[in-house]
Amino acid sequence: MKIDLSILVAGVLLRYCEEGMMDNVSGKWALVTGASSGFGVEFATLLAERNANLVLVARRREPMEKLAEKLQQKRRVNVVVEGMDLAVSGAGAELKSRLDSRGLTIDVLVNNAGYGLYGSFVDQPLQKTLDMLQLNMLGVTELTHVFANDMRQRRTGHILLIASLLGYQATPGYAAYAASKAYVLLFGEALHAELKPYGIGVTVLSPGPSATSFGAVAGQNDTSVLRMLMMKSGPVARSGILGMLGRRASVVPGILNKLIVFWNRLTPRSMQHAVMQRVLGA
Ligand SMILES: NC(=O)c1ccc[n+]([C@@H]2O[C@H](COP(=O)([O-])OP(=O)(O)OC[C@H]3O[C@@H](n4cnc5c(N)ncnc54)[C@H](OP(=O)(O)O)[C@@H]3O)[C@@H](O)[C@H]2O)c1
Repeated sequence: MKIDLSILVAGVLLRYCEEGMMDNVSGKWALVTGASSGFGVEFATLLAERNANLVLVARRREPMEKLAEKLQQKRRVNVVVEGMDLAVSGAGAELKSRLDSRGLTIDVLVNNAGYGLYGSFVDQPLQKTLDMLQLNMLGVTELTHVFANDMRQRRTGHILLIASLLGYQATPGYAAYAASKAYVLLFGEALHAELKPYGIGVTVLSPGPSATSFGAVAGQNDTSVLRMLMMKSGPVARSGILGMLGRRASVVPGILNKLIVFWNRLTPRSMQHAVMQRVLGA
């Protein structure tokens, strides 16, 4: 019983110290893309718990308006909803000018909107793949450029980019999606170093399989290994927000996902492809 109590106290102290080392976003404006479902809802909720005001962006307005109402009532933060297709070239600049005209300055950018396409690359209509790459890579690049420029002038800010565990290795069945997330991973880790001298923290979150609409949107069947690896969206988003506020370069949530990344360092790439093919049932 004595030991249990000391573990409890140590846990509380650790959490207290951890929180003490985090940057404060209270009263600042955070922009969360893909805030109509999945991780986006969790990111918005976690930021509102830290008293950040929010700009929510995705194509479907209705779920974001419901979320906005809930967070405004529960957390007393300001929430702005922008219905927008971020896969359209120039969307980042358009969003920035909409926010400028409202007098909103973004201190936290959570670049989360994205999706996957599962299946044989040559069987997918090319345009579907190009649209996905536009959102996952070019849209993310454009938003980051627009808002990082602004943050650099103010010498402060945070950017969270959502890559994927699949960004760590070529993945048959997710050839273009995994490659797009490898781009996000390398882009974000490089920006972490480039923007650090300007007071901007850039963090890449690389989730493994997680319980959101991702699988259904991608057309991915559940496999037993995927079910075993599956994490809830809340803890994944939490590790991303803590990583960002602690100014870490890269975060892989979950012990099994961390082991996979470690295993990748020790094994030949050909073996990694074969294992991923098994895991996904491709
Ligand atoms: N869940 C996983 O297993 C997993 C693993 C690794 C990485 N990820 C990444 O996590 C991020 C979030 O995905 P999720 O898992 O939360 O899936 P989700 O529940 O399907 O959410 C995807 C979000 O992206 C938005 N979105 C899609 N296309 C858009 C567009 N053209 N313009 C604006 N918004 C768009 C969707 O909103 P609308 O449809 O309303 O536009 C939605 O809010 C993605 O980048 C994904 O690649 C997910």
